[in-house]
Amino acid sequence: MDLSTTIAGVRFPSCFMNAAGARCVTGDELDALGRSRSAAIVTKSMTLAPRDGNPEPRYYGFPAGSINSMGLPNLGYLAYARIIPELRKFGKPIIASVAGFSEEDFVIIAKVINESRPDLIEVNLSCPNIPGEPQIGYDPDVSARLLKRVRNVVSVPMGVKLPPYFDPAHQERMAQVLEGVGVQFLSLINSVGNGLVVNPDEERVAIKPKGGFGGLGGPLIKPVALANVRAFWKLFGGRLPIIGVGGVVNGTDAFEHFLCGASAVQVGTALVEEGLGVFERLENELAMLLARKGYASPLACRGNLKEL
Ligand SMILES: Cc1cc2nc3c(=O)[nH]c(=O)nc-3n(C[C@H](O)[C@H](O)[C@H](O)COP(=O)(O)O)c2cc1C
Repeated sequence: MDLSTTIAGVRFPSCFMNAAGARCVTGDELDALGRSRSAAIVTKSMTLAPRDGNPEPRYYGFPAGSINSMGLPNLGYLAYARIIPELRKFGKPIIASVAGFSEEDFVIIAKVINESRPDLIEVNLSCPNIPGEPQIGYDPDVSARLLKRVRNVVSVPMGVKLPPYFDPAHQERMAQVLEGVGVQFLSLINSVGNGLVVNPDEERVAIKPKGGFGGLGGPLIKPVALANVRAFWKLFGGRLPIIGVGGVVNGTDAFEHFLCGASAVQVGTALVEEGLGVFERLENELAMLLARKGYASPLACRGNLKEL
């Protein structure tokens, strides 16, 4: 079964890759992704300065999913600018995830990272903005201004990683913003923000930062991820490639993302929990499912979701 796919003109050897943040912070982790069956090497979202992140425990996995408040631990953009060219030897696409704490941060980082020639740049809009204001992706005006500025300094294909939206009006408004700035792919969705996981036996929260509040991932967010993939697929009439992210734990989850309109999927929680072997398992499960259903490739079923 040919599981290869294409995003913004870049060919991927398969349709499963790591999600930003999952086992992709250090040079060693990025090398390990290079050697694994991950279809691409997606970096941790990088900031201007290196960051240790929040105090531990800051990630907690449980059967229905995960909660985290990592606090963007990363090596800083200059380190990734040095590492990216070294990752070329693995012969697979490199996606640089760019973050920041101000508009200016994003522009500085994107400009330098663009010069290190990743295959694609994923702009992470699920970042804190001004204290007391929502994250950037929840502010369409700030998102538009920021993306226009980043677009001006980026020559490789540029995509946007969006937070989940829960109202069609917000999806429509963001689609207008994206249409206006020349975005070439979408990664949907980032963690479902500000969840709270409680341990009833211990009568306490599961993670230390922010009083236990954190971003949710894994199976419990799949319906939210599928809804956003489907909504943006429809809003763009299938013209804009979408990487589905959220709740991909088995081959059927990936198949559902493709039916909704995804061209590839990223794996976060399942990669953290299971390790790099997850990619081969997912490939096998999806290939078997597609063969059973008579599809020649993942793209053959893309967007085919039937409505009642
Ligand atoms: C430990 C951890 C760290 C993450 N760090 C980032 C990050 O740096 N940038 C980003 O865009 N998303 C980050 N995410 C979100 C994931 O990329 C993904 O969007 C989310 O977890 C949903 O996918 P999943 O259901 O497969 O976990 C992180 C998730 C986890 C679990």
